[in-house]
Amino acid sequence: MSLKTFTREEVKRHASEDDLWIIIDSSVYDMSRFVDLHPGGAFPILELAGKDATDAFYGLHRQEVLVKYNRYKIGTIADEKPQVDFYEPGSLSKVPYAESSAWMGFKSPYFTDSHFKLRAAVRKVCDSLAAEAREFEDAGIKPSDEFMQKMGENHLLAMNIGPGPHLHGMVLPGGIKGEDFDYFHEMIVHEEIGRWKVRGFDDGVIGGMVISAPTVLNFGSPALKKKIIPEVFAGRKRICLAISEPYAGSDVARIRTTAKRTADGKHFIVNGVKKWITGGCWADYFSVAVQTEKGISMLLVERGEGVETKLIKTSYSPSAGTAYVTFENVLVPVENLLGKENKGFLVVLSNFNHERWVMLTGSSIACRLVIEECFKWANQRLVFGKRLIDQPVIRNKLAKMISSLESIHAWIENITFQMNNMSYDEQSDKLAGPIALCKYHVTRVMHDVADEACQIFGGRAITKTGMGRTVETLQRTYKFSAILGGSEEIMADLGVRQAMKKFPDGARL
Ligand SMILES: Cc1cc2nc3c(=O)[nH]c(=O)nc-3n(C[C@H](O)[C@H](O)[C@H](O)COP(=O)(O)OP(=O)(O)OC[C@H]3O[C@@H](n4cnc5c(N)ncnc54)[C@H](O)[C@@H]3O)c2cc1C
Ligand code: HEM
Repeated sequence: MSLKTFTREEVKRHASEDDLWIIIDSSVYDMSRFVDLHPGGAFPILELAGKDATDAFYGLHRQEVLVKYNRYKIGTIADEKPQVDFYEPGSLSKVPYAESSAWMGFKSPYFTDSHFKLRAAVRKVCDSLAAEAREFEDAGIKPSDEFMQKMGENHLLAMNIGPGPHLHGMVLPGGIKGEDFDYFHEMIVHEEIGRWKVRGFDDGVIGGMVISAPTVLNFGSPALKKKIIPEVFAGRKRICLAISEPYAGSDVARIRTTAKRTADGKHFIVNGVKKWITGGCWADYFSVAVQTEKGISMLLVERGEGVETKLIKTSYSPSAGTAYVTFENVLVPVENLLGKENKGFLVVLSNFNHERWVMLTGSSIACRLVIEECFKWANQRLVFGKRLIDQPVIRNKLAKMISSLESIHAWIENITFQMNNMSYDEQSDKLAGPIALCKYHVTRVMHDVADEACQIFGGRAITKTGMGRTVETLQRTYKFSAILGGSEEIMADLGVRQAMKKFPDGARL
């Protein structure tokens, strides 16, 4: 329908229940057919019939509501321009601290034109997938094959595993050559995916793969790599990492799943159970830690006879596919060994730094997005006749959140710079401690941000739909980051123990 222009006087004449117009930010909406269907009831709309409802609307709704119900828009007010900025898919936010500093016009020693191009292109793709991502999250269902394949087509799966030969020869979003992709590019990819604000679904799409694909990429035989990696990065097959068990989480060495060689030496027979395996519900491949004769080994197990998975209900969406996995006499070819037999601990350890760093980037963006929402909410919510932001105590909460976020983000950028400029061995030697300490700090910051944001949003912070949705998600899910990939206690301890390894013998006060 073509849109007309009206005067405010004309709108005023449509103020009855059967003929009900309202103005929101210079747009005119005909609510006559909607008023009885309105989720907030007819009463609030009737009160504003024929009037400007902009402030009332933004006090109660997210602007997505207007996008979804755009069909009720019949025109605009003549000679008036909208005052509210509408989010244009693919664009940058103008809210202070809503983007990291390089994207807010500050100078950066780290980011180049190539990073800006990648972010612009990835943001467009991710924005185009955001509504679908939310539908999966809310329905708590498996991320569809079509969704995974769209991710694959845009290289959004392969780019989560870091720079390396697996990207060489590819042209990535923004025209970036795979050979030029570095950890800052990867950081951008994680941040953009984080903007979907659907923590469980994110883990279902990316989480299991990020921690498991490297075990095949870096330790699988050439044949195994050739078979598995292209189909996983294309989104046709799914892979997960199965280390934790009901008996052993932090203490990996105590796992009880066994792999015994068959008499002809050609296979292993795997028996045991694994708990909390992200993406396990629908994984085609499991990278599994097992006890072999003289230690831990890693084996790639294909879903098949003897492999069973069932959903574990957690605080976040079942879209994460968190599984309890049972292996009962599963026959696995010896060619599926990842790394050397009895040396699987090296494989387990090898990806910890990258996994934890990925979690740093995801945690930082989750805080940033919540802070953006707090800023907007504090600016638009009127309480006791004033905006929340006019209360010093609310400004103080924002100050605490912003300063914590910017300090962790600066540390993450510093660590990312080290990753770009250190060999793998140097990273292993120098970065395990700082990454662990940074992860410990980031999840403490998340705790504080979730807490302050809840107080700013009030009841909406503990309501799943509506204005406080993003805050509700953070306060319900930040503990995942504090426990997964090494819990806070373990991270803090590891960080200081790593520092003590380099403590000079002769140092005294
Ligand atoms: C949703 C979800 C998804 C997961 N995904 C995967 C996955 O894909 N693959 C996988 O293999 N695992 C996965 N895990 C397992 C996860 O890695 C473990 O939960 C984690 O390692 C902690 O182990 P635990 O829960 O057994 O806690 P425990 O090891 O039993 O520890 C309990 C608590 O005690 C503390 N603690 C332990 N040891 C010490 C110590 N020495 N000093 C001080 N405090 C200590 C810990 O910090 C922890 O808070 C997932 C878990 C969850 C909840
Ligand atoms: C184009 C106009 C409007 C549309 C499409 C619309 C749509 C909606 C939707 C979808 C919800 C549920 C949202 C959620 O759970 O977040 C809702 C809630 C609500 N709406 Fe509207 N609305 C409109 C205008 C208005 C106006 C003008 C008022 C007047 C103040 C109003 C008052 C409310 C109230 C009080 C709620 C309940 C909010 C809550 O639970 O906190 N709406 N509306």
